[in-house]
Amino acid sequence: KNICVLISGTGTNLQALMDACDAGRIDGSISAVISNNADAFGLERARNAGIKTHCLSHKDFASRDDYDLALGDLLAQYDADCIVLAGFMRILTPEFVARFSGKLLNIHPSLLPKYRGLHTHQRAIENKDTEHGVSVHYVTPELDGGPVIVQSRVPVFDDDTVEDLAERVSEQELRIYPLVVKWFCEGRLAMKENKAVFDNEIL
Ligand code: GRF
Repeated sequence: KNICVLISGTGTNLQALMDACDAGRIDGSISAVISNNADAFGLERARNAGIKTHCLSHKDFASRDDYDLALGDLLAQYDADCIVLAGFMRILTPEFVARFSGKLLNIHPSLLPKYRGLHTHQRAIENKDTEHGVSVHYVTPELDGGPVIVQSRVPVFDDDTVEDLAERVSEQELRIYPLVVKWFCEGRLAMKENKAVFDNEIL
């Protein structure tokens, strides 16, 4: 299967996906990594691994619609089976989401539907949650609102800083995202009627 990864930053999730593909754990390969930010360290990770990279800066486009059209055209060139959002800090237009419906995955650092949007670790600490975590979900037009595929939970301790919690969640991200992409590439996963369905329910 043909995977494209969209990033904006460090790319630790991208690295985990590259490693899983290299090790043969995912039956697919990453054909391109696209960033909206030229300084994203993830671009360097991809270049070092010999993966094609593109920087498509939102600053070069007059509108979100124009940007998403160009992004979509670029992805279409790669004929991507699976488009993995790995820290891609852009809101996508409904038209873009519809164009690639069922192929778009995202990872979000909270136990959705809790804490959509930003600063999730801080919000979990402020609310004195005893449990926090990460969700992998299908992308729908609703921001961080698509059907959840897998979640991983972590404890929140009284003296946790945002960094402590982010680190604990990150460990889980690097574990579950490759797993979900593996299932996706094996055809064991689908989105039906706005729900994520597995294996036996697909057939
Ligand atoms: C992760 O926390 C992910 O959950 C969020 O953005 C961050 C990306 O980190 N969507 P990285 O660029 O993969 O290191």
